Amino acid sequence: MFLKDCWQVAAFAKEVGRKILPRTLAGEAVILYRTTAGTPVAMLDTCPHRFLPLSLGTLSADVIQCGYHGLCFNRHGDCVKIPGQDRIPPTAKVTVFPIVERYGFIWIWLGDASMAHESTVPNFHWMTNPEWVVSEGYHHINAHYQLINDNLLDLSHETFVHPHTIGNHAVAESPLTVSEGEGTVIAHRDIMNCEPPPFYVKVAGFSTRIDRWHTTIFTPPGFLVIENGSVPAGMPKGEAREKGIARERRVLNLITPETETSSHYFWGIARCYDLEDVELTDYIRREVARTFDEDKLVLEAQQSRLGANKITHFPVTLRADAGAVRGRRLIEAMLRGVSADAAE
Ligand code: FES
Ligand SMILES: [Fe+2]
Repeated sequence: MFLKDCWQVAAFAKEVGRKILPRTLAGEAVILYRTTAGTPVAMLDTCPHRFLPLSLGTLSADVIQCGYHGLCFNRHGDCVKIPGQDRIPPTAKVTVFPIVERYGFIWIWLGDASMAHESTVPNFHWMTNPEWVVSEGYHHINAHYQLINDNLLDLSHETFVHPHTIGNHAVAESPLTVSEGEGTVIAHRDIMNCEPPPFYVKVAGFSTRIDRWHTTIFTPPGFLVIENGSVPAGMPKGEAREKGIARERRVLNLITPETETSSHYFWGIARCYDLEDVELTDYIRREVARTFDEDKLVLEAQQSRLGANKITHFPVTLRADAGAVRGRRLIEAMLRGVSADAAE
């Protein structure tokens, strides 16, 4: 069961063009394309006639033609042509989803279209804000999206999963504090006076001990902004910022469920220093992709152990799980809200 009355990322904007892009999003088979005027369109990937996926058809001008009996649909999902007959049955219609192009993404609303307001698209301005530079990427993960949320709400795993890039023993040893905002869970960890992990030596230029922090801000169903930074050990953040030696980033994680056992993971690492350094941007992209490959391995192994079984409870819960547990509670409450509304 997925949350549908919310904006979710369907694709990077640059992925959607004049070629039909089929993608399963929160259990719905969808196609994405752009009209000749460049307007993005998202509709159900099912012909209402005999259910052939429309992704097996063709796009010409602004019309999708089904590849079975040739019905043609415009960007509003209306049937505009039936070969061999003039009368178009009113049921010959394809569901079209509200979408918004913003921050370099195509956002889709898979639920009740009357509730879709552009003003509620989650704020990921860093992706396109000229004061930041982003190294971005995508991972397809064969795991339930909440396993990825759990992963990002408890970064103690960096110590064990990412010792070659962003982790060292100090991460898991540092306590986590968790709080809740309006519809969000905030998990914060200060890692004081630690050796800089390998990634920090290379991309932040630190060679002596550092104070480091992570603040993960989670908004359901799968948005996690990690405010992440480091300063020379013992130096107040304000002073390091003034001297231009604080190294601060936003790790932007946008997860859209695909099925009950797979997810789309869009990510970006935004930094506000060395903006012109293209090599650094590429280096961060490669290193973070490698780091997330390590997460993918863990997440897919977890899912493979679970199979199609849903998690009903965790036999062991640790202090470090506090953020992930609250994140799951938030989603459960929202899903119950959806069910309660539907039952009325
Ligand atoms: S199945 Fe699409 S036209 Fe018949
Ligand atoms: Fe990780």
